[in-house]
Amino acid sequence: MQTSPGTGLGTPWITDSIDLSTVPLELKVRLLTGATAWTLHTFPEAGLRPLVVSDGPIGVRGVDDDPTPSAQLPSPSAVAASWDLDLVARLGSLVADEAKRKGTDVVLAPVVNLQRTPVGGRHFECYSEDPYLTSRVGSSFIAAAQDRGVGMSVKHFAGNESETDRTTYVARIDERTMREVYLAPFEHAVRNAGVWSVMAAYNQVDDGVQTAPSTEHGRLLNDVLKGEWGFDGVVVSDWLATNTTVESAVGGLDLVMPGPGGPWEEKLAAAVRAGDVPESVIDDKVRRILRLGERVGAIGDEPTPLVDPDLPFAPETRALLREAVARSIVLLRNEDSFLPLDPGAVATVALIGPNAVEPFVQGGGSAFVDAPYLSTAEDAIRAALPNAVVTVHRGGTGRRHAHPIGRGLVSAPDGTAGYELTLLDAGGDPLGAATIVEARESWNRHVPLDARKARIRASVRLSTPGVHRLEVGLSGAHRVWFGEELVSRSTTIVGHDVILDSSANHPDGPSRRFAVDEVSGPVTVEIHAEVQVVDAAGYGTFVRFELRHEPNDPDVDGEIAEAVEAARLADVAVVIIGTNEETESEGWDRPDLQLPGRQNELVRRVAEANPRTVVVVNAGGPLILPWLDEVAAVLWWWLPGQEAGNGLADALLGTIEPGGRLPWTLPASEADVPVPHALPVDGVIEYTEGIDVGHRGWDRLDRTPARPFGFGLGYTTFSSGPETIEGWDGDELIVTVPVTNTGSRPGRAIPQLYLEDVTSPVDRPVRWLAGFTIADLEPGHSAGVRIAVPRRAFEIWNVQAHSWDFATGPYTVRTGASSRDLSDGVTVDMSPPTGHAAPPDA
Ligand code: BGC
Repeated sequence: MQTSPGTGLGTPWITDSIDLSTVPLELKVRLLTGATAWTLHTFPEAGLRPLVVSDGPIGVRGVDDDPTPSAQLPSPSAVAASWDLDLVARLGSLVADEAKRKGTDVVLAPVVNLQRTPVGGRHFECYSEDPYLTSRVGSSFIAAAQDRGVGMSVKHFAGNESETDRTTYVARIDERTMREVYLAPFEHAVRNAGVWSVMAAYNQVDDGVQTAPSTEHGRLLNDVLKGEWGFDGVVVSDWLATNTTVESAVGGLDLVMPGPGGPWEEKLAAAVRAGDVPESVIDDKVRRILRLGERVGAIGDEPTPLVDPDLPFAPETRALLREAVARSIVLLRNEDSFLPLDPGAVATVALIGPNAVEPFVQGGGSAFVDAPYLSTAEDAIRAALPNAVVTVHRGGTGRRHAHPIGRGLVSAPDGTAGYELTLLDAGGDPLGAATIVEARESWNRHVPLDARKARIRASVRLSTPGVHRLEVGLSGAHRVWFGEELVSRSTTIVGHDVILDSSANHPDGPSRRFAVDEVSGPVTVEIHAEVQVVDAAGYGTFVRFELRHEPNDPDVDGEIAEAVEAARLADVAVVIIGTNEETESEGWDRPDLQLPGRQNELVRRVAEANPRTVVVVNAGGPLILPWLDEVAAVLWWWLPGQEAGNGLADALLGTIEPGGRLPWTLPASEADVPVPHALPVDGVIEYTEGIDVGHRGWDRLDRTPARPFGFGLGYTTFSSGPETIEGWDGDELIVTVPVTNTGSRPGRAIPQLYLEDVTSPVDRPVRWLAGFTIADLEPGHSAGVRIAVPRRAFEIWNVQAHSWDFATGPYTVRTGASSRDLSDGVTVDMSPPTGHAAPPDA
């Protein structure tokens, strides 16, 4: 009998006692595929209403037609950079409340895949490059959200560390690496946070025992996850990831999403009747979904929870997200205590940079949410320095593509604002009347099934003198004319794969320039196109036609010169540079770690003009910053979400100390990166670096990064004393370290503990992170900081016995402020704890 985690009472699940043998097979199988993209079917036999799922982890979007905005968190790597498990838990609670407000039962989050390579497309959506930090942050988020009765679906199980060919590649990971590194955060989520759902990934996995798609990997799903770890929740497929009927059903998958359609439904019922899938396997899946329903309160007449309808705007939400932004910002450099800025000494600020004008606050892909508002750096700096004159200068652009076109510029043939779209059937005949479509809209979902293509007509009127660029974004087969000229043509019909490979959604579509001069006046461009209807399976059908427009070809030379001149005249230059949605997204990996456009030049020239320059990096994943040690101060701002500006202003002025520590290694040069890309070779990605993921790889190769894992400055200074090994407390080794705030401001220390195995006969990382904690100290104050190291940190996966071994013998326990700034440490002979195991360390 399954019990309810957390009650301590061994409460049996009511739905476990339902007799499924009397329920018709069709009804049971129906429950195992989505009813829509985001909802499940009802199961009246158990009183289950349709369960609703929605994406995370940046917030909860809700289902498709939900028009309300969503609280927008900083991206997960920012959250992890706080190393603050209490803050993480409060964010988990906020996400749970948002889920309730949006009628969502299960949030598809968090992502606990690792940042194996810095170019990984979903790097920003993962917590860190370290399995232990990822485990602790992930479990804190999950536990806090589930505590409020909202399920989490931890993803993507397993080996889903990159995006290129993501639906086909085989991640080949040796058994020990799998256990110690890539499965570790999932195991932690199951054992320590009692997660209620796990999402099976797109890719295939070769774990040394079995090679199979993640959605049908019996070894990982049945034996390890459900067997060894005792996971009693629901394994859901990633969206459109399931390709088989029998293999996935017996391989451990419980729920195919999205629906309707896909490889289960009546095919699965037929497979059961044919004896290829035992009915007991179906019953087990049904029970898991019912159990999930019970956990989230979807069985019976549970009342709809009351949640503040304005939660994304609520003062508490704003304050929490603002704190999260400031606490995640990593201070990478602060020459001569340049920061925090003294408001009394700053009369003029030049705010410069492409990302100062257009901040990049969330990464691309399925995790996006519509934020309620955006606190910009400009507004926040003006509010924080009310007496200062703030001027704003873009200084060039980091984009290749134009922006979505402005509303007023496009009109349909009858003069209405927007463009005219007529759906055509297979014979080219119109299906009903034309509709007018909002000019910016790129996806028209739920096109009727018999539509094969769409005819589009639009007039774009360009009146401002200068050179204008017009661009079209498309998916699949099309013909596009600008006036009489056929500017683009493709006969390649695309299917639902286009959804899974987002790079296909950002093509270099047709683009043309049109000059408007003051003498001849406005120019009207007649646009005519035929575009295929994409059948995107469970996502519906759609036509993609997106108009983009750049009013004037950017004069980058002029913009940089203007910014440099403004910097020269200002007391302080704040330069905000970084990536944008063309750079970091689900669906593709980055080609390199370079800042797009001429941003390096911009920083160097501004800093040359004014040594009082602070650079703010607005990006999720690592970038090469060649000027890092040449400017006065550098902050890493991440993809900060709705409270972006306020959190930044707090950090710049020291209202809240920037509390972040890098959850990944910042390279000085691309050539140094241990895993520079993740391109499959013959369909396989070999995890050849084994257990040496992230900073462990840098240590193994003895390479010097620009800033190491765990690095981050504050506005005060700390000293720390020798470690004392206090001994085992249950399954945790307790280590204490005296830490003193030696500066003149209150501040936050984040002591980290690393282990080194002195004599191990088995290969181990040079050192590995095994504990950390937070100490907020007033100036002059000291504390004996306590760090708990889990027993697992000493264990090795034994590939002969397929079990964990406690590796006894001498270890050096070192503590410090980053993976490269450590004490000499103490060496201690370790043997496992004796006596009863204590509760786990969630
Ligand atoms: C992503 C998942 C996401 C799902 C639903 C997939 O493409 O990989 O992370 O939860 O879509 O949006």
